[in-house]
Amino acid sequence: MQKKQVYTRISAIQGLAFNSLKQLISWSNDFKVDQLQIDTQHESLFKLAVEVSELSRSPADKDKLITKFEEFGILLDEHFRDEEDVLVEIGYPMLKGHRAEHKALLSEFKFIRQRLSNWGGEPAFQEKAFVVLNFMLGVTVGHILHSDVNYARCMQKDLLKQADICLPDHGP
Ligand SMILES: [Fe+2]
Ligand SMILES: [Fe+2]
Repeated sequence: MQKKQVYTRISAIQGLAFNSLKQLISWSNDFKVDQLQIDTQHESLFKLAVEVSELSRSPADKDKLITKFEEFGILLDEHFRDEEDVLVEIGYPMLKGHRAEHKALLSEFKFIRQRLSNWGGEPAFQEKAFVVLNFMLGVTVGHILHSDVNYARCMQKDLLKQADICLPDHGP
């Protein structure tokens, strides 16, 4: 296959991926956990993820994308700390596992950030842009809309007493 054809195909796949991704990471008030600080941070993370995904479409935006990705990481770090404080406060029984997820996501962020420093030409841009998008998806849809939803159910004190809804951590 000609090089040009390959690039056209990659662009088509990316266009499709971008549109579905943008829909997936668009903030909705339905995602709220009813805690103002957490909801504000979650909404900002979703908005930053959309901005990053927009910048990931053109190699010309490479520097802006790195800056935005760093901004995302700073907010993510701050958010995880604030969220863990809230979880301690409500006595969330699955705090240990939740904290481990935060830690893993922050390590992944640092790893990707480091890799972005040696960014090459256009093919490398597309490849790395996908890694960035995949991470955004992991934080928003993977963590906020799945793991965070679990503690949202436990926010009300009366629900905390229901063991089937808020199961405690297992293991050491
Ligand atoms: Fe969160
Ligand atoms: Fe979380």
